[in-house]
Amino acid sequence: MPQITLSNITKRWKGFYGVDDLTLVIDDNAFVTLLGPSGCGKTTTLRMIAGLETPTSGRISIGDEVVFDSEAGIDVPPNRRHVGFLFQNYALWPNMTVYQNIAFGLENDKSYTKKMIQERVDEVADIVKIGSFLKRYPAELSGGQQQRVAIARTLAPKPGVLFMDEPLSNLDAKLRLEMRSELQRLHIETGATFVYVTHDQMEAMTLATKICLLDNGVLQQYDAPLDVYHRPVNLFAADFVGNPAINFINAQGVAPQGVSQQGAEIKLELLEGKQVVFTPSSGVALPDWYATQQLADEQAAAQLAERKASPKYVEKENKESNFKYRIAKSGELGGTPQDLSDSSQDFVVGVRPEFVEIRESGAFEAEIYSSMPTGMETTVKLKVGDLLLTGVIFGPAIYIIGQRVRFDIDGDGIMLFSRKNGRLIATGALRIV
Ligand SMILES: Nc1ncnc2c1ncn2[C@@H]1O[C@H](COP(=O)(O)OP(=O)(O)O)[C@@H](O)[C@H]1O
Ligand SMILES: [Mg+2]
Repeated sequence: MPQITLSNITKRWKGFYGVDDLTLVIDDNAFVTLLGPSGCGKTTTLRMIAGLETPTSGRISIGDEVVFDSEAGIDVPPNRRHVGFLFQNYALWPNMTVYQNIAFGLENDKSYTKKMIQERVDEVADIVKIGSFLKRYPAELSGGQQQRVAIARTLAPKPGVLFMDEPLSNLDAKLRLEMRSELQRLHIETGATFVYVTHDQMEAMTLATKICLLDNGVLQQYDAPLDVYHRPVNLFAADFVGNPAINFINAQGVAPQGVSQQGAEIKLELLEGKQVVFTPSSGVALPDWYATQQLADEQAAAQLAERKASPKYVEKENKESNFKYRIAKSGELGGTPQDLSDSSQDFVVGVRPEFVEIRESGAFEAEIYSSMPTGMETTVKLKVGDLLLTGVIFGPAIYIIGQRVRFDIDGDGIMLFSRKNGRLIATGALRIV
């Protein structure tokens, strides 16, 4: 089974960069999800690997074979890339029964006897639970059933690489959940490499061995789901992954600070003048951190300058990513978009909702703004001044709107971001002084 390698893949239409200089190694046997907001370049990336879209530049190999190389003029057609597809706009043959649709790809394969085809169709039909519809025509099925037929048809030839573009989008919530767990099993059972496009972070989190997170055509982070969750590289990644979303809290560094040795502390002021110390889990010296960041930025700028020097380079129109982190405020739906700052003394603290702990001895005071119990957990919004923080309390808990409570920000999974460049400085613990 093959590994897929993308090297400096760019796809642009005139000055619009759909995918910008993407380098990615998809390991053999991986389940990689391409995740990001609508229009970030997920489908385009998948189509380029599959051979349905021609990259503007770069190189793609599947296993040992280079299937695309703009410089060498290599472009292997899709049907010779030995991959299976399942796209958002799947098309079933309307004049064929479900059985015939699924069997279609196998009938051209000489290694399958009629009996083997029948067994294989039954097997995949069973997996996606359409065994009782085999004699029907697509027009006699619901959207969700059609989608499952499309999945079965793709699985039937046992492709070594399987591409899926939002394949569960037409299913209702319950069926989607069920199909997710079936896909996970299928991945293990088939041993194939899965590349899966979704804009749904929950789907990406639960299915993937690795998430490839894109924004505006640019790779943001490529890591295992829980690593993206616990150590997002920047504000965008922190915000995009996690439901309910992470809390962002603006914080100012309190002078004299800036240096933090192993285990040492960074003094901050946040939530209406509260003085806290942030203790990074691993030592981080802020001046060093900023120096490293600057070096990385300079290197990136030099690389870009090199690309721009090429006569083929076309100025990028969509340079600015639209992402702005938001601070939730009472009475403002969706929160207030924040700008990055010029000062190295400005920070953003990221707190996942499960780290907000309501308790009588809590260091912070708040008012219950809303409380939504589901039985398994309760999602509360806490009003601190005009800021809103979201907390998830596990187990049954009832709060009354307007009730005064105290809370802590617990655990060592608190994130400290630079407000200057939006990137993660460290994870650690927050303690009030
Ligand atoms: N043929 C095209 N011509 C111009 N722009 C395109 C074309 N195809 C896609 N795009 C643009 O490229 C960006 C990425 O598209 P796509 O990969 O489909 O996004 P998504 O992440 O939602 O799957 C979008 O902004 C889209 O409008
Ligand atoms: Mg898409």
